[in-house]
Amino acid sequence: MGSCATLIAGDKKIELPIIIGTENEKAIDISKICKELGYITVDPGFANTGSCKSAITFMDGEKGILRYRGIPVEQLAENSTFVETAYLLINGTLPTETELKAFSSLLTEHSLLHEDMQIFYQNFPERSHPMGILSSMVNALNSFYPYLGESREERINITVTRLLSKVRTMAAMSYKISRGHKVEYSRPDLTYCSNFLHMMFTTPVRPYVENPDFVKALNVFWILHADHEQNCSTSTVRLVGSAKVNLYSAISAGICALWGPLHGGANQAVIEMLETINKNGGDVTPFVKRAKDKDDPFRLMGFGHRVYKTYDPRAKIIKSVCDRLLTATKKHDPLLDIAKKLEDVALSDPYFIDYNLYPNVDFYSGLVLRSLGIPTNMFPVMFAIGRLPGWIAQWKEGQEDPERALIRPCQIYLGPKQRRYVPIEEMDRQVAS
Ligand code: SDX
Repeated sequence: MGSCATLIAGDKKIELPIIIGTENEKAIDISKICKELGYITVDPGFANTGSCKSAITFMDGEKGILRYRGIPVEQLAENSTFVETAYLLINGTLPTETELKAFSSLLTEHSLLHEDMQIFYQNFPERSHPMGILSSMVNALNSFYPYLGESREERINITVTRLLSKVRTMAAMSYKISRGHKVEYSRPDLTYCSNFLHMMFTTPVRPYVENPDFVKALNVFWILHADHEQNCSTSTVRLVGSAKVNLYSAISAGICALWGPLHGGANQAVIEMLETINKNGGDVTPFVKRAKDKDDPFRLMGFGHRVYKTYDPRAKIIKSVCDRLLTATKKHDPLLDIAKKLEDVALSDPYFIDYNLYPNVDFYSGLVLRSLGIPTNMFPVMFAIGRLPGWIAQWKEGQEDPERALIRPCQIYLGPKQRRYVPIEEMDRQVAS
């Protein structure tokens, strides 16, 4: 704990404790200002407000630093797997070989879905968005897999493993059924990422042949999406979790928040934007011009970030994964050329420089997913699968927080002063006169 900050409001003055974080971030603890000063604070979008103290992820938006439990994301992307990184985020330390083996075999054991859950998929209208389906199916786990086990720890561990494993099966099943294809079950001999690609792309006439470049790219993709401190969807999971609802429903709410085009839905919006540019002859200038026009709601999707005021460290890695994948598959994606051109033009434009608008994680991620054969409308689902370990870790931390409380912000009221009820006949007379 550091020194204090003095707050003077009207004729009152109070001392507020200062909290210093591990990396020397500073915060003023305002938890007593309503009681002692009679004021609340207002901070639309919470850009200046810390919602909690957390030991999971550290970000430095000025330096472009991202660490999970202290480990730089660059080292995890290079050396780890998504399952090992998920274990790190949820348990706080990297696993031993025995612990990782046990975790992986639990994920395999819990990879199947109750057969009756397939009926849900058959009843979604054809053009249903995979994120709406995923959020519904995750919430439906409440009915098919209610909390089991004696100890609370055991209950949570089973639920956590079920979620991590089944969300992958749900996504692949959604894809298969939307195409009228036979649903493929997970295979016990495949790793987490390879199993997902198998469930997505195996058909009775074309068995899945593991492509190590694809498996590595998917591990890196999901590692880079695994957590990002108190972003919109994670804050949603913590907020819903604070009401003591079960984990499935808190995650289902997080999926809905992530779906938004300002958040995890941006990866789909980036590809749709690049496709539009491509259809218009590949000239990026009109789009950059629109993005700068305050009278035009258009934004350059995949650019800008609430925290990063420099290049998103994840975007750098994803861009290199994209280059590597296209080289390995000897494919050329015209959208990558457009993306790189758009980046060059934007990063040399004073508007983007002055606003510190750089490519974020979503700018190149869709291009990696295209190379893997994932359909565009599933891109936010791929983000959700990656973010799941982070949501779970943050939910657990919120539940175990000694300062935990129901999250219920205040407000400043700007509505009408007190007035009386007007019977409808009088309303008609008032409006008529
Ligand atoms: C993710 O929080 C996280 O950590 C999120 C995430 C994670 O891992 O969980 O990193 C994942 O959501 C990444 C962001 C994906 N979204 C997009 O790419 C959508 C496009 N980007 C923007 O909408 C915007 O940059 C946000 C939403 C990402 C951040 O916006 P802020 O911090 O709320 O800032 P703002 O919207 O108030 O913008 C500040 C100024 C505005 O101009 P003024 O009104 O002040 O004159 O910058 C401008 C904005 O118009 N601006 C943009 C822009 N982003 C911001 N102008 C053009 N194009 C853009 N992309």
